[in-house]
Amino acid sequence: MTRFKAKKQYFCIMISSFPTQLEAWYEANGRDLPWRQTSDPYLIMLSEFILQQTQIVQGMSYYLRFAERFPTAESLAKASEEEVMRLWQGLGYYSRARHLHAAAKKIAETGCFPKDYSFIRALPGVGDYTAAAIMSFAFEEPYAVLDGNVQRVLARHFGITEPVDSTQGKKLLRALADEMLDHKHPALYNQAIMDFGALQCKPTSPLCEACPLAETCQALKEHLVDKLPIKAKRTSVRDRYFTYIYTRTEDGKVLLHRRGSGDIWQGLFEFPMIESAYKLTSKQVDEFLQCKGEYSLTLVASDIRHQLTHQRLHTDFYCLTLPSAETQLEGKWVEEKLLDHYALPRLLEKLLEKLKSSSTTCVSCKKSFLQQEE
Ligand code: ADE
Repeated sequence: MTRFKAKKQYFCIMISSFPTQLEAWYEANGRDLPWRQTSDPYLIMLSEFILQQTQIVQGMSYYLRFAERFPTAESLAKASEEEVMRLWQGLGYYSRARHLHAAAKKIAETGCFPKDYSFIRALPGVGDYTAAAIMSFAFEEPYAVLDGNVQRVLARHFGITEPVDSTQGKKLLRALADEMLDHKHPALYNQAIMDFGALQCKPTSPLCEACPLAETCQALKEHLVDKLPIKAKRTSVRDRYFTYIYTRTEDGKVLLHRRGSGDIWQGLFEFPMIESAYKLTSKQVDEFLQCKGEYSLTLVASDIRHQLTHQRLHTDFYCLTLPSAETQLEGKWVEEKLLDHYALPRLLEKLLEKLKSSSTTCVSCKKSFLQQEE
C-alpha cells in the first residue's frame, strides 16, 4: 500500500469528528472580526486583500477606513489610483492595492458581484485561497480554504510528512482540505479551521495541552508537532543596498520621483536613490553626487534594515540641501509640508521619522528639516 493510500485510509477513520470539533472550538474561541459581520462579497474581498500579507491587528484599521471611504466596488472603482495608494500607505505589498482597485473595476463593470468561482478566481490578485474565502464566506458555497494556517492544522492533525510545498504534498493537502470541509456550513468551517490555526495550533508554542483535538492528533502522538508542516524549499533572501538622498531646497521643496514597474513599490513615490551592490561610504556618495564641497550632504541614518518577503533592504539616508530647485534633476519638486499627500513606502516613512527626530538642520537657514515655518 502506498503512503498516500495509507493516509487516505486514515482520513476515513477520522472524518466524522474533525469538522464538528473544530466548529465547537470556534463557537467558544473564534474571533469577532468586522468582516465576519457581513456577507457582502465586496467587503469580504476587501478584507482578504488586506489580510493577504498583513496581521489582523494591523489590517483592522485599514479595513475599517477602506470600508468607510469605499463601501462598494463601484465607489472604489471610481477612485483615483493616488487616493487608493494613499489609503493603503503603510500596509506594504502595494501590488495588492493595485489589484484590489483593478478587481473593483471589473466587478463594477459587471454591475453586481457574481456568485461565480471562475469569475472571482480570474480577478486580479485573487488566487485559490481568496476565491474560496469569498465563495464560502459570502455565498456559503462549498469551497475549502487552504492557507498557511490550514496547511499547518491539517499537516499536524493528520501527520502529513510530505513537504507541503512539494507537488505530492500540495495534492495531498488539497484532497484532505476538500475532504474535511463541512459542506453544510462552509463559512463556519473555514473560519473555524483558520482561527484554530492562528490561535490554538500556532506555528510555535501550540497549545497542545488544552487542545480539544489532541486525542486524534497524529503529530502529537508521534512527537512531530514542532516538525510539521515540513517545507522543502528554503526561500532565498536577496540583500539590496539603497542610499536615499533627501534632496531639498532652502525654501522647503523636496525632490520626489515615482517608481516604475517591474520592481518593488510600483507607482509609489520616493526620494532620489542610488542602488549599489554593497553599502556606499559617505565619500562614494559625495563623489557620485559630485558635491565638491559646494552643497551640504549630511548622513541622517545608516544601515536601516527593512525586510520584504524575499528581499532585505539595507538603507542609508542622506540629506542634501540645494540653494534652489534645480529643474535639470529628474523628478518632481514638491512642497516639503505636503509630503504626506504622496504615497510613500513604509521604509521611507520610517526614514522621515528619523529625519524629524534627528537634530539635522538646514545649514543655510538653521531650521530643522520638516519643521520649517510656513
Ligand atoms: N486571514 C486571512 N483572512 C482571514 C479571515 N477572514 N479571518 C481571519 N484571518 C484571516
